[in-house]
Amino acid sequence: MKLEDIKKIAVIGSGAMGHGIAQVCIMAGYTVVMVDVKQEFLDNGMKKVKESMDFLVGKGKLSAEDKDRMMGQLSTSLDNKAAVADVQVVIEAVPEIMDLKKKVFADVSSAAPAEALLASNTSTMSITEIATAVTKPERFLGMHFFNPVNRMKLVEVIFGEKTSAENVDLLCELSKKIGKIPVKVLKDSPGFIVNRIGAPNQALISAILDEGAIKPDEIDAIMKQMGMPMGPFELADYVGIDVFYHTLKYYSETLSKDFTPGKTLQALLDKGDLGMKTGKGIYEWE
Ligand code: CAA
Repeated sequence: MKLEDIKKIAVIGSGAMGHGIAQVCIMAGYTVVMVDVKQEFLDNGMKKVKESMDFLVGKGKLSAEDKDRMMGQLSTSLDNKAAVADVQVVIEAVPEIMDLKKKVFADVSSAAPAEALLASNTSTMSITEIATAVTKPERFLGMHFFNPVNRMKLVEVIFGEKTSAENVDLLCELSKKIGKIPVKVLKDSPGFIVNRIGAPNQALISAILDEGAIKPDEIDAIMKQMGMPMGPFELADYVGIDVFYHTLKYYSETLSKDFTPGKTLQALLDKGDLGMKTGKGIYEWE
């Protein structure tokens, strides 16, 4: 398959990452079907895409006509098998739970065309292991975006053990076409490059929360003065406490027990206080 052959993309998952991926794909001219398990999740994802596009219209960066045309390229579905039947690329952005990802790809790989590229937006998990759920694993690879997808340029394109170099090159070309800067990750290891470097920081954040000696807002204020666009605790709420927790849990299972999420993160997860998206996490949000 060549870049010009790619016309339609399925994005599985309509949360923070999924709706952002859908947005950048429709803005680059692709037809996109966004899939989720509940209509309310899809409605919320569509609302977020629309708000983001309206923002760009308001800023004069996009015409209202272009926005309407792009929104017209985006549809939704509750049926992942039906949704992938006529796509050339599938990008999965479901929660960071290995069994869930494997289940999604087992369904999708049997229903998608045999040559379709199958990509996971996993931020930490083994591409080689997820690939065990798919037929033709040479077409399976990682495509890791960063949040907010519509503003963060980097995409890690990750090889699994059986991924073909040709397919990695094609996904890099697609990443450029949707306005991103792809970086090839040759070795499939927990957290790949960016998140692996951030892993000790995540463990530290969890420990600081449990210790309770210094308040998150004090640290965040200092880090912002140091030039970070967001403080580390604010960023955890922004990315999502569930994502943050599952990432640490995966590191604790694959790298070292030193990464085990602490009791504060566990309590937030149990209460459903998942950060900005639920209105409450480490902080309270409007
Ligand atoms: N769509 C497209 N562009 C948009 C937009 C939208 N919805 N909303 C705003 N923009 C544009 C703005 O118009 C502006 O463009 P100009 O510079 O041309 O005017 C630009 O984006 C910046 O907008 P903001 O004023 O909103 O930017 P900000 O200064 O408030 O920064 C931020 C916002 C980019 C989110 C910044 O706070 C930041 O970089 N935070 C850290 C984000 C980060 O580290 N993400 C990685 C998280 S880790 C991760 O994602 C890994 C994982 O696996 C979980």
